[in-house]
Amino acid sequence: MKILVIGSGGREHTLVWKISQSPKVSKIFCAPGNAGISHLAQCVDIGEDNMVGLANFAQKMKIDLTIVGPELPLSRGIVDEFDKLGLKIFGPNQKATQIESSKVFSKYLMKKYNIPSASYAVFQDIKQAFDYVKQQAFPLVIKADGLAAGKGVFIVQGIKQAQEALDSLMKKKIFGDAGEYVVIEEFLEGEEISILAFSDGKTVLPMVPSQDHKKIFNQDKGPNTGGMGAYSPVPFYNDLSRETVLQKILKPTIEGLKKEGREYKGVLYAGLILTKEGPKVLEFNARFGDPETQVVLPRLETDLIEIFNAVIEGNLHKINLKWKDNAVVCVVIASGGYPGKYQKGKVIGGLKNLEEMKDIIAFHAGTKLQDEKVVSSGGRVLGITAWADTIFKAKEKAYEGVEKIYFEEMYYRKDIALKGIK
Ligand code: AMP
Ligand code: GLY
Repeated sequence: MKILVIGSGGREHTLVWKISQSPKVSKIFCAPGNAGISHLAQCVDIGEDNMVGLANFAQKMKIDLTIVGPELPLSRGIVDEFDKLGLKIFGPNQKATQIESSKVFSKYLMKKYNIPSASYAVFQDIKQAFDYVKQQAFPLVIKADGLAAGKGVFIVQGIKQAQEALDSLMKKKIFGDAGEYVVIEEFLEGEEISILAFSDGKTVLPMVPSQDHKKIFNQDKGPNTGGMGAYSPVPFYNDLSRETVLQKILKPTIEGLKKEGREYKGVLYAGLILTKEGPKVLEFNARFGDPETQVVLPRLETDLIEIFNAVIEGNLHKINLKWKDNAVVCVVIASGGYPGKYQKGKVIGGLKNLEEMKDIIAFHAGTKLQDEKVVSSGGRVLGITAWADTIFKAKEKAYEGVEKIYFEEMYYRKDIALKGIK
């Protein structure tokens, strides 16, 4: 089979790496890809948002299956476009993707189908929003309705901060139309966990759990990022939580979406918080997580292409997901200054040394080739990912790998996976 993967991050490098292990696959293309991906796939210079370009390429190259990594093309309806042209593609259609691209829709769905989540209210008018805020207890969570690259959530401690957040979203419109509506919700406390699941619209098969590290600094301090590292399994996610999440969250969500005429085929990512009252949903995403994918897919034994085909054909009930009984840890190396301003184009050293190590891989996120050298080209640059029989050993190995890498002003957290070890 000829495969096209859309995207250019660590998630896509991991997808390409896993797909390359399938005996069903003869050739992989990635649009646009990165320096690491170019060792496993032919990178083509078409942007993830260039729907016409991607469809033309898939037609011309007779691609058998396209896999969409990021949310942007999904939210713009790439799956609907490919379907119309008779091109096989993995991911939810535009209407189903709204579970991620509209928080107003996802909150409505959860409320209607009794899926545990924070209580909330929706506003389009800034004055009404502010009047509501004045009557609430703090902390309070204010969210842009639309896509904001993980930056549209404000946890506010008082009236002044709330006013600032509402001004940014609704007056200054820092995220444009994404802030036309805002969701204001109750602040929840607990450990966060990511559960990714395959669904063909009827059957739901959860993957192994993982925990992301969203904040930039050690001990979960500082601003949110796309994710600074992850590990799997998560020891405090027990059998009871697993069963509750499947029966009370994942299944009712997929069934609810079907009832709303939005059959969901793809990966459903539930961002959960384990509260005293049980697991609740913080958000849904319509795709694989990044960096969660880096720690989940190395544990998968089942052929990923077989799973993708079963999802598309509505045969997921025939698949039995098999997992390795090991642990995986991914430490993200970022450009100094991320998630704020940072410099690109720094030459990355040490990748060859890392290649000589066993049970470890550098998944590339923001890298590109320049004069035959690998240079940084984004905020998150590499995800050093190691596996072993325990989380502790996988963490030690991942940091051993991190030590081999060098580029100017590189930054990484020192405490990835510690919560999984205690
Ligand atoms: P989201 O993009 O909705 O997942 O929000 C990003 C981050 O904001 C989450 O990972 C949480 O750390 C935090 N967050 C979002 N909603 C809430 C909430 N209701 N209570 C506490 N923290 C939240
Ligand atoms: N790791 C968070 C996300 O993929 O949205």
